[in-house]
Amino acid sequence: MNAFSFYNPVKIHFGKGSIEYLRKELPQYGKNILIVYGGGSIKANGVYEEIMTILNDLNMNVFELSGVEPNPRVETARKGIEICKNNNIDIVLAVGGGSVIDCSKLIVAGAKIDEDAWELVTKKVFGKEALPLATVLTLAATASEMNSGSVITNLETKEKFSWGSPACFPKFSILDPSYTFSVPENQTVNGVVDTMSHILEQYFNNAANTPITDEMSEGILRTLIDVAPKALQDPSNYEHRETLMLAGTIGLNGFLSLGSRGDWATHNIEHAVSAYYDIAHAGGLAILFPSWMKHNLHANPARFAKLAVNVFNIEANGKTDEQVALEGIEALSAFWTSLGAPARLADYQIDATYFDEMVAHCMINGPFGNFNKLEAEDVRTILEMSL
Ligand code: NZQ
Ligand code: ZN
Repeated sequence: MNAFSFYNPVKIHFGKGSIEYLRKELPQYGKNILIVYGGGSIKANGVYEEIMTILNDLNMNVFELSGVEPNPRVETARKGIEICKNNNIDIVLAVGGGSVIDCSKLIVAGAKIDEDAWELVTKKVFGKEALPLATVLTLAATASEMNSGSVITNLETKEKFSWGSPACFPKFSILDPSYTFSVPENQTVNGVVDTMSHILEQYFNNAANTPITDEMSEGILRTLIDVAPKALQDPSNYEHRETLMLAGTIGLNGFLSLGSRGDWATHNIEHAVSAYYDIAHAGGLAILFPSWMKHNLHANPARFAKLAVNVFNIEANGKTDEQVALEGIEALSAFWTSLGAPARLADYQIDATYFDEMVAHCMINGPFGNFNKLEAEDVRTILEMSL
């Protein structure tokens, strides 16, 4: 393992009825609260009403920002920052999936600076301070509820970047799996693909001797392969939903990177693709990850073969590591396709028109990927393999 320091201060309240913890948690922060949510799913499934009842009981002054987009826009965060600055907001409560939470992270940090919010995302300004943030998660996918990262899109400049600051860790997050019963089939699939991709990004690292995180990663992947089809069959099954939810959170709360540094190249490439085409993050990952794997297999075939054997049950006898690895990659693609995830950029009507721009977006900070460094020509090859 690599030497490491680990810090994750997020308090999690997990389980049915955990929304009641708002009563205990919120009063310590003050009376003025900004609730941030998306396009209305929380009104359709009753979560909004449950929260408003509690806020009214607590006599809080409630401000609202609705309409946060999937792939949240910097413009929307700017609106939230205005509300915070003009109304002396004490705490921001994000109610939704990764997009709502990521947008709220920019709001809480943006409320503490004079510069424009985009300066935080482009890392020209570091968010040293932030208003307190709490979250109510409604979609298992990003782990934004238990990390300090955020991904924001600027459609005007066709840019989508991740940024973060320890100041943006939520103070607490409420995870009630029953809040995800209403997540539609395609978003449930997206959540599973995103979670698996986070685990894979971290699994592909160059640290020696990582048996604990390897076993954790392989175990969560096997569990998702078992449970995801069952959850799709029976969307209101609490046990399946709680398994997906915990997997999503552990997938990117830091546990799986203890002692190692994950690759993260595929996420960088996906952000470039969705900056141009505004597609679902996980849809892009389902297409790009198998291509990244095939292109990078040569860097450490044994690592890919280990994944194939331990997660996809590929028979290794009499085969080279490369052969086993390739069968594993095919099994991963087949699993995602069986769930209904896209397999090719053409599934989104994406062709090579903007490949030059996407490559430039990826290369903005130079060669990238911690498992295997990618140059511009590698990115282009991976995009072409995904057409
Ligand atoms: O907007 P509403 O009406 O709420 O509908 C949302 C949205 O349309 C819907 N939804 C959420 N909960 C629901 C529900 N529909 C019915 N019932 C519910 N309970 O689902 C749609 C997608 O929501 P979104 O928040 O966009 O999905 P997700 O959680 O997958 O987040 C995706 C964003 O997170 C970023 C991605 O790039 C993308 O912008 N990421 C953030 C990360 C992080 N902060 O650590 C890491 C990830 O790798 C990822 O890049
Ligand atoms: Zn992701």
